[in-house]
Amino acid sequence: MTRTIRKAVFPVAGLGSRFLPVTKASPKEMLPVVDKPLIQYAVEEAAAAGITDMIFVTGRNKRAIEDHFDRVHELESELTAKGKSDLLELVRGVLPAGCRCIYIRQAEPLGLGHAVLCAQPVVGDEPFAVLLADDLIDAEPPVMRSMCERFAAEDCTLLGVEDVPRANTASYGIVIPADANAAVTAITGIVEKPEPAAAPSTLAVVGRYVLTPAIFALLADARPGRGGEIQLTDAIAGLLARERVLAQRLHGRRYDCGSKLGYLKASVEFGVRHPETGAEFRRYLAQRE
Ligand code: G1P
Repeated sequence: MTRTIRKAVFPVAGLGSRFLPVTKASPKEMLPVVDKPLIQYAVEEAAAAGITDMIFVTGRNKRAIEDHFDRVHELESELTAKGKSDLLELVRGVLPAGCRCIYIRQAEPLGLGHAVLCAQPVVGDEPFAVLLADDLIDAEPPVMRSMCERFAAEDCTLLGVEDVPRANTASYGIVIPADANAAVTAITGIVEKPEPAAAPSTLAVVGRYVLTPAIFALLADARPGRGGEIQLTDAIAGLLARERVLAQRLHGRRYDCGSKLGYLKASVEFGVRHPETGAEFRRYLAQRE
């Protein structure tokens, strides 16, 4: 089987209820951090890993994502006519060169595991990546690239993980690591959103996965788990009986842009570094009380 990851799945059908009311009619994945929507950061991360097929599992109210990655001929002609070549380049570059988009509709909100299963007809029998766009990870090299390189060497399922405060375990899939201190470790178990007192560790899965296609059979057989949803975590727990699963610690900094505070922090950090806004924004932040 190939050890090159060519396909990435972006589950984007979620309702974004933590971000209401802005997500009432617009997708949370289109929230901008400075001038790019969250989903574009995720697609760029996948492209930087050599991934070419961007598979979006979408739902109602998500058409803006399709439009974002599409060509807009009227806009391009206008920018050409006005000689605005830098903006033209920006608009054309939204979809990284050599990449293509495929859209699948998740008709019912049955959970992350179900969303991944919806991508099976397009992914087929090969390993693939999953990126959750609301985990914005600022890292060099980009995290998915490191994970794909690791996959080429290890040929097994990989989960991006990070230590979280024990108080927050109920927001994450939590793994049982064979070696809690290693940068990369085999795991012996995984639980979806355990309460702090019951959490087997504080090592949390963040929104980056490289999965072998064996996951599909487990997802197809999965029963509703936590929250009545088909959980990817439960299928990964089932996979452990058959295959090796590794947890890889993230490098860089993660912003939970599914939460208001995480999103605000990302906006500040990317804002102070942005070539256009950076200098003045830093001055503004320094001056305000
Ligand atoms: C999902 C997964 C969870 C994972 C998290 C990472 O939860 O179910 O295991 O730790 O993403 O962001 P969600 O944040 O969609 O509730």
